[in-house]
Amino acid sequence: MTQQTAVQEQQVASKTVKFEIQRQDTPESAPYFEKFEIPYRPNMNVISALMEIRRNPVNAEGKKTTPVNWDMNCLEEVCGACSMVINGRPRQSCTALVDQLTQPIKLEPMRTFPVVRDLVVDREFMFDSLKRIKAWIPIDGTYDLGEGPRMPERKRQWTYELSKCMTCGVCLEACPNVNDKTNFIGPALLSQVRLFNAHPTGSMNKDERLATIMSDGGLGECGNSQNCVVACPKGIPLTTSIAALNRDTTVQMFKNFFGSDHMVD
Ligand code: SF4
Ligand code: FES
Repeated sequence: MTQQTAVQEQQVASKTVKFEIQRQDTPESAPYFEKFEIPYRPNMNVISALMEIRRNPVNAEGKKTTPVNWDMNCLEEVCGACSMVINGRPRQSCTALVDQLTQPIKLEPMRTFPVVRDLVVDREFMFDSLKRIKAWIPIDGTYDLGEGPRMPERKRQWTYELSKCMTCGVCLEACPNVNDKTNFIGPALLSQVRLFNAHPTGSMNKDERLATIMSDGGLGECGNSQNCVVACPKGIPLTTSIAALNRDTTVQMFKNFFGSDHMVD
């Protein structure tokens, strides 16, 4: 080992990472901040730092504390479980690299959802909304239906982009209109309406889905802040979906008014 490498390793070994983490012991109890200072390792992400705190739950004052709770699963920005607010920005903690964050790194739970404990939130509202909008393709699984209907390639490509949604909740957290004063289902769910309505079989329930987003908590609650599309970690074109649904619901409104035997494409 050269002298220069030894000095570099010594510098890394003495480096630390500072965190300010919002803690909450139960859904009902008051939140509070706790500071941590942990040894630095190259290429750390927020989750590996939280794992280090869990391994040795001692706060920055040197006092033994309870391990911080958070959710995670895939560790590669696919499952959506690890969402939290990092330095004021809702995002996935598995892809938040410590080297790219200003310290102290502030971790808070997404406040759009009820806090279960520390950084763990309950995203049930989103899953209930998926049921409300019938976010599935109804098929009869009792016998082999053969291949599904083919989709034009261009349509398949844009629907594939919409299908990347991992129900992480980040766009709901970023949206000023998703709050406890409205029932707004949020941008992700609107985009899923567009996705399932675009499918040749899913379009059988198109009218029902449009009726849902034309009712309380639907499209009318969108304030067009456009925060959602900036926040989405999967780059889903949420505002394009919302614009397309505005057009679809307008057509549906005329259809409801004048009556039609035909599905609106
Ligand atoms: S649209 Fe994007 S930000 Fe919103 S829930 Fe889906 S993946 Fe997350
Ligand atoms: S752990 Fe799955 S998205 Fe981060």
